[in-house]
Amino acid sequence: MTDKVQYAVIGCGSVGPVHAHAVARCPEAELVAVCDVIPERADRCAALAGGEPCYDYLEMLEEVRPDAVSVCTPHATHADLTCDCLSAGAHVLCEKPLAISAEGMDRMMQTARAEGRMLAGVFQHRFDPVTAAMRRAVQEGLFGRLLNAGASIRCYRGPDYYNSGEWRGTWAGEGGAVLINQAIHSIDVMQWLAGPVRSVFGRQTNLQLPDCIETEDTACASLEFANGAVGTIEATASSHLDFDAAVHFYGTGGSFRLTTGGQDELEFLRVEDDEAAGRVQELLVEAEQRDEAGAVGKACYGTSHARQIMDFVEAVARGRQPAITGQDARHAVEVVLAVYESARLGRPVELNGAP
Ligand SMILES: NC(=O)c1ccc[n+]([C@@H]2O[C@H](COP(=O)([O-])OP(=O)(O)OC[C@H]3O[C@@H](n4cnc5c(N)ncnc54)[C@H](O)[C@@H]3O)[C@@H](O)[C@H]2O)c1
Repeated sequence: MTDKVQYAVIGCGSVGPVHAHAVARCPEAELVAVCDVIPERADRCAALAGGEPCYDYLEMLEEVRPDAVSVCTPHATHADLTCDCLSAGAHVLCEKPLAISAEGMDRMMQTARAEGRMLAGVFQHRFDPVTAAMRRAVQEGLFGRLLNAGASIRCYRGPDYYNSGEWRGTWAGEGGAVLINQAIHSIDVMQWLAGPVRSVFGRQTNLQLPDCIETEDTACASLEFANGAVGTIEATASSHLDFDAAVHFYGTGGSFRLTTGGQDELEFLRVEDDEAAGRVQELLVEAEQRDEAGAVGKACYGTSHARQIMDFVEAVARGRQPAITGQDARHAVEVVLAVYESARLGRPVELNGAP
C-alpha cells in the first residue's frame, strides 16, 4: 500500500502526455493509469510516463479506483466524463474549457458538491511566474484602478490542425474554435487580472477556412468589466503568425502588456509612483528566481502544467482547495460563450453570476 495520490490521466492525445509526465514527477503522486480509446495513444503515453495503459475509462475507474484524474479529452466530452469520475470517487482536474455549455459546467459543479470531491480547472498560465507576479502587483494596488484591459491572440491553425481530430472546428465537438480553444487562456488571465466581465458585444467570422471548419477562425469583442472599465478581445487562428498571445492592463497608477501562451514576458511596463515601481521590480525579481518547471508539450503550452498539477496533487493529498477550482475556471468559459451568443444575436449580452 502507498499513501501517494493514485492518479489517472484520461485522453492521451496532444496534452494528456504533458499531464502524465508531470504526475510521474510529482513526489506525492503515483501515475497508476493512462487511458485512451485509441490504444496506441494510451500505450505510447504509458511508455513515456508510466502507468497502466487502459482503453475504456469506465472500466479503468472501476478497476483502478484512482484518487485523482486529469480529464484531457475533447471539449464536448468534459462534462459527462468529469461527472463519471467524480461519481466514482475521484477528484478531477479538467482541461480547459471546463465544458462547452453553462448547463455542462453546472452539472460538473453539482456533482462535485454531491460527491464531496474536488473539481479543478486547468489554466496553467496563471502559474507562469511573471503572470503570477503581475496578478500580485495588481492585487496590491500598484497599478491603481482598472481603466482598460484586453486579451489578444494571433496564431495559425490550418487544415492539418483541424483535420487532426473530428471534434475540432465543430460546434458539437469543440464548441467553437479559436476563442474557446486558444484565446481562452488570455481571456482567463485578463479576467484574473482585471476582474469579472459584466457584458460583451462580440463578432465572429470564418473567411479563411469555410470549407474546413464550421466555427469561427476570427473573433473580437468589446467588453465592460464589473468595475465599469471597458476592454477588448481580439482572436484569430488565421494570422500566419506562429503564436502571439498577450494581455494588457491600463490602470490609474500604471500599465503593462504581458505575453501569455508560453512566453510569460512583459512587453512594456510603466508604474507612475516610485515606491510602487520598486515593489513591482521586487515581485519580478522573485518571479525570475522560480524554478523552471518541466514540459513535454508544444511551446505555446508553456511550462506551467507541472506547477498546476503539483498544486492539485498537494490539494488532494492535504485536503485543501486547489488554486484554480471549477468555479474559478468557469468565468473565462462564460465570457467566450457570451461572445458567441452576442455575435449570433447581433447585440450585447450580459453575463450572470460573475465571480
Ligand atoms: N492547457 C493547454 O495548454 C492545452 C493544450 C492542448 C490541449 N488542451 C485541452 O486538452 C483537451 C484535449 O486536447 P488535445 O489537443 O490533447 O486533443 P487530442 O484530440 O489530441 O486528444 C484527445 C484524446 O482524447 C481521446 N478520447 C476521446 N474520448 C475519449 C474517451 N471517452 N475515453 C478516453 N479517451 C478519449 C482521443 O482518442 C484523443 O487521443 C482539450 O480540452 C484541449 O482544449 C489544453
